[in-house]
Amino acid sequence: MKRRLNIMLYVCAVLMSGEVFANDAAKSEGTVPMQMISEGDSVPPNAVSDEQRVKNEKLYRQRCGACHALDSNRIGPRHRDIYGQKAGSVSGFNYSEALQNLDVIWTDVTLDEWLKNPTAFAKGTSMGFRLRKASERKAVIQYLKSLSRYSE
Ligand code: HEC
Repeated sequence: MKRRLNIMLYVCAVLMSGEVFANDAAKSEGTVPMQMISEGDSVPPNAVSDEQRVKNEKLYRQRCGACHALDSNRIGPRHRDIYGQKAGSVSGFNYSEALQNLDVIWTDVTLDEWLKNPTAFAKGTSMGFRLRKASERKAVIQYLKSLSRYSE
């Protein structure tokens, strides 16, 4: 009888230590508490902080604002909803032939290539402006993306 009790105690001890070990393993792997996971879920994957948004907008005005506006065609076509749309498709804007014939959807990748060197991307385009800094291209693209109902 005593021996059986000892065995049961031993089994309990093993089970308990197993549990403790499992918890430790979860902690050391940096498991995120449930509360944080659910908070994270409510934030869209391409969300940016308010601070970043303000910076992006300012940079857009500085670099692009001389020729582009969000809601009206100027020297360049209006920019709202451009992200996710086909190149050369803003109504009422008089595009170069290069842009009219450019078979491209504006995404992170295509916008980055375009802004790096428009003339190389679409030979004969009338956009004579390059954004050389990768970090600035990223910020401006993030801004255009946040303004488009066609962004994913
Ligand atoms: C010096 C004037 C000028 C500046 C500065 C300029 N653009 Fe442009 N942009 C144009 C013109 C003109 C076009 C039309 C090109 C054509 O028809 O070949 C254009 C076209 C575009 C297009 C293609 C639009 C479409 O409908 O397919 C994008 C995207 C674009 N610009 C983004 C930018 C961004 C972002 C900046 C700032 C980083 C910028 N541009 C700065 C003049 C400019």
